[in-house]
Amino acid sequence: MSLTQPRRTIRELPDVLISQIAAGEVIERPASVVRELVDNALDAGARHITLRLLGGGIRLISVEDDGCGIPVEELPVALKRHATSKIVSLEDLESVATMGFRGEALAAVNSVSEMSLLSRTEGAATAFLLDGQTGEVRPAARAVGTTVEVKELFFSTPARRHFLKSENTELAHCIEAVRRHALVRSEVSFAIWHEGKIVEQWRSHPGEAGWNQRLADVLGEDFVSSSVNIDFRSGPVHVRGRAGTPDAARARADQQFAYVNGRFVRDKVITHGARSAYEDVLHGQRQPVYVLYLQMDPTRVDVNVHPTKIEVRFRDSREVHQAMRHAIERALAVPRAQLLTGNETAVPQGKLTADAAASFLSPTPAAPATPSTWSQRGMAFGSDRSNPDPAKAMADLKALWGQADQIQEHTPSWTPNTDKAPAMLSHNENAAQEWPLGRAIAQLQGVYVLAENSQGLIVVDMHAAHERIVYERLKQQLDTTRITSQPLLIPASFAATPQEITTAENCAEVLQQLGLEVSALSAKTLAVRAVPTSLAQGDAVELTRSVLAELAQHDAATVVQRAQNEILATMACHGAVRANRKLTLDEMNALLRQMEATERSDQCNHGRPTWRQVSMRELDALFLRGR
Ligand SMILES: Nc1ncnc2c1ncn2[C@@H]1O[C@H](COP(=O)(O)OP(=O)(O)O)[C@@H](O)[C@H]1O
Ligand SMILES: [Mg+2]
Repeated sequence: MSLTQPRRTIRELPDVLISQIAAGEVIERPASVVRELVDNALDAGARHITLRLLGGGIRLISVEDDGCGIPVEELPVALKRHATSKIVSLEDLESVATMGFRGEALAAVNSVSEMSLLSRTEGAATAFLLDGQTGEVRPAARAVGTTVEVKELFFSTPARRHFLKSENTELAHCIEAVRRHALVRSEVSFAIWHEGKIVEQWRSHPGEAGWNQRLADVLGEDFVSSSVNIDFRSGPVHVRGRAGTPDAARARADQQFAYVNGRFVRDKVITHGARSAYEDVLHGQRQPVYVLYLQMDPTRVDVNVHPTKIEVRFRDSREVHQAMRHAIERALAVPRAQLLTGNETAVPQGKLTADAAASFLSPTPAAPATPSTWSQRGMAFGSDRSNPDPAKAMADLKALWGQADQIQEHTPSWTPNTDKAPAMLSHNENAAQEWPLGRAIAQLQGVYVLAENSQGLIVVDMHAAHERIVYERLKQQLDTTRITSQPLLIPASFAATPQEITTAENCAEVLQQLGLEVSALSAKTLAVRAVPTSLAQGDAVELTRSVLAELAQHDAATVVQRAQNEILATMACHGAVRANRKLTLDEMNALLRQMEATERSDQCNHGRPTWRQVSMRELDALFLRGR
């Protein structure tokens, strides 16, 4: 039996079939039609867009706008393949500012549904209706703008229709498609009707304040109240928007909206950049929430990669990754305690207050003159900030890495530095109001520190909080230094992929920074000659391969920092004050002041919260007061 059919003559496909084939790429489900039609309405300058659906959009999708309309003589052209009013040349394509430009959506939709176009332009005496099936045009009634009706989607392509899910699922996808538009166009009002009932309505809100209101309307008040503002420039990339605090993270990645030059995109570089910004503060598998708008020169991004235009290609993906990461990281670093007093800019963004850190972590006068454990050395090293000596710093670090085993038993000792913060010890009411995390009042079961502030009670997990403080401190000290490495007695060699070899060659310097020495033995073999001292017991090949894989994908700075952070986090956990250690009130107050001044102090290194506010209102509710 032969599987090959007898040869047929080469023929050009009929027009409709070409469109149907193309529709396979662009139109996957009702929501894809909604996306294309709303794109068109926005491109036409609409201020009000109304979507009406029947049967989850399968039976009817109608999109009504008050945009510029389509002149009657152009109505039939609009349905043709590759017919567009948005670009005329390759230069236009390279700097395209509209949502559409491929001129294929209407043709595609028309080929897999029963479609009609009703439109009127400014100055026209009447509107005109075009029947997509027959091509017939006749006068009709309508104000300026356009209504596109799409009935019985996939009626002619039953195979496609079988892939559709339940009406409710399709409806949810349609709403999501409009949501994506609504989050970036707050000056436009949107209404969604299903089966004659209004299901979503987002009024227009002009201006900056209006945009926050739109976010609240679409994603809920909680999104706005538990997110921080982002406005960050990094080279040619400008990132704006809001990113949720670690507390606001969700089990699913369903509130991650990223836009490039106003277009909603799904992009690995962006998602990963955001994710890496949360690495240090987010627990386990939780998914951050954010709405972020990236703005860059249109020539730095190719939007003509996929027919749905949901994927893009960046000229320099590293610059985008870095911009995302830094934008979010910096905004999240500000301790939220500062927001309690409504003073978001109280501590300069970017760095932990060095004096405060030193005061909290400096050794007590009673500490031995020659520190015997790593954390004591660490403390001594760090508190000696007036005399930064790179060579000494290096030596201290070597000691740090080398003695990681001894730290388990150690509890660092510290006292507040009273010279630098005299108010810290005065227990007057005014001061308590000034300090976001309040005045310490007691320690509970050796685990929690209780404090009083103007809003009520503050409860601090003292180990978690101190762990973060130690960690941030170590990170700061390490910013400019290297991870020490240890040569292997016998180099470990492995068969490498061409990509691994290229990366190893290109990134030799970064690898060295990470404590790895890797060189090519042959065109297909790499040899690992040295590994980081602290990881000397591990599998050198495994480690090298994973680092090479990361380097191939991400910018070097990200990889270096991530590796450092991982090692430091382990050290900080051991170095932080253990539970069941009795603290004096002064020590507790010192801890609170320290938290207020330390970046990311709202989460411990594992992403758990370090403190909670229990408001007077919540306490009153517990006792049924004021009812
Ligand atoms: N709602 C609308 N209002 C005004 N013009 C529209 C509208 N929808 C479509 N058009 C016109 O029809 C053309 C074809 O639309 P489409 O097939 O989506 O391609 P594209 O959007 O890529 O140009 C558009 O270029 C535009 O001129
Ligand atoms: Mg279009």
